[in-house]
Amino acid sequence: MTYADVEEVIDTHYDHVNSGMARLMRLLNVGVEQSSDGAYVEDHQGVRYLDCGGYCVFLLGRRHPRILQAAYAQLENVALGSRLLVNRQQGEAAKALASIAPPGLRYVWLANSGAEAVEAAIKLAKLNGRTRFVAMEGGFHGKTLGALSLTHSPKYREPFLPLLPDVTFVPFGDAAALATAIGDNGATTAVVMEPLQSEAGVVIPPPGYLRDVEHICRQHGALLVMDEISTGLGRTGAWWYCQEEDVTPDILLCGKALSGGLVPVSALLCTPALYEAFNSEPLVHTSTFAGSPLVSAVVKATIDTLCDLDAPTRARRLGDRIVNGLLAIQQRWQFPFVTAVRGRGLLIAIAFSDDAFAGEFLLEMVAQHVLISHSLNAHAIARLTPPLILSDTEISFLLAAVESALTAIHKRYFETEGQRS
Ligand SMILES: Cc1ncc(COP(=O)(O)O)c(C=O)c1O
Repeated sequence: MTYADVEEVIDTHYDHVNSGMARLMRLLNVGVEQSSDGAYVEDHQGVRYLDCGGYCVFLLGRRHPRILQAAYAQLENVALGSRLLVNRQQGEAAKALASIAPPGLRYVWLANSGAEAVEAAIKLAKLNGRTRFVAMEGGFHGKTLGALSLTHSPKYREPFLPLLPDVTFVPFGDAAALATAIGDNGATTAVVMEPLQSEAGVVIPPPGYLRDVEHICRQHGALLVMDEISTGLGRTGAWWYCQEEDVTPDILLCGKALSGGLVPVSALLCTPALYEAFNSEPLVHTSTFAGSPLVSAVVKATIDTLCDLDAPTRARRLGDRIVNGLLAIQQRWQFPFVTAVRGRGLLIAIAFSDDAFAGEFLLEMVAQHVLISHSLNAHAIARLTPPLILSDTEISFLLAAVESALTAIHKRYFETEGQRS
């Protein structure tokens, strides 16, 4: 593929997908994603990138052989089901997911995207007989209208107002503010939150906060919905981040890594009592592609593989190594434009003093052949979301790339001509 061919690809985006995005692609001057395998992605020129981005999707890397095998086997038989004959794979996937869920969350509704899982949670919560939701400042739950109503960022909300009418936002990490907002009038149906905010730039709540939230919800008869779409399935060093404080939500949402890096899928898990509304009226909430045999087979293989790898322990071990390595780099260089390094397991943030530095860092990392993610709700924060299949050599490569990228930025903006030569 030549330079002209790449331009042609971008032209198709410009003319038929999204011209604004196409302009950004030109500006970033990145290649065409051609192939992927394990922890690597290759572009049209054969340049290999270590993939530490992907917005929490690729916990098992790309095209994991076991997930691929499950998908191929399923494709040979039934991919999308009749929705009339019995779907064996959906039952098996749901059972596997329930087996690693917090206690009591036995029912599983498979959906196609994270936002759709949030929509299902909103609908179930509404059947609780109340109308009001409390969500968190900085929280991100997706961009469909219901999910957007609980997403805090004004940039995404304002063009679409009015959204769901009765949503109150409170500061994340402030239990007293939550207690006040829930109030005593029994109107709050659910508190919807991420236990650790991902798109806000890996915001870790203070110790004891999640337990306090659970207690406040129970006190006021409000449901607790934990959105673990980014944090779940072991990425943060526990199967679910809410388990760090032994919190059991009424509804748990997951997505991203549930895909096995292969198919779009998400899930809502909840108690039999809450799910009764869907059990007694099975057609009240459905979607054509939800829980298809193909997707379900991938979900089952993904969970089996994560269990066999002991994903939480592995993510914690690798994450600690990476965060300690990053802290050592910052200790050594004292970069004035890096304001924080933090993480839990394989969800890691490097915070910058300005949005522009985070953008430059992302591009410098591409130049170092490493892909990372930005943060939708916090542009000054870059996120590393590596897969748990990284080897020691790959971790060393990642850390060396970070060090080179940061020193390049330092040279550009903080060293005088004399110092540079
Ligand atoms: C915590 C959280 N909830 C919901 C979503 C929405 O998921 P999707 O983009 O698959 O609709 C995201 C996506 O980034 C997320 O991080």
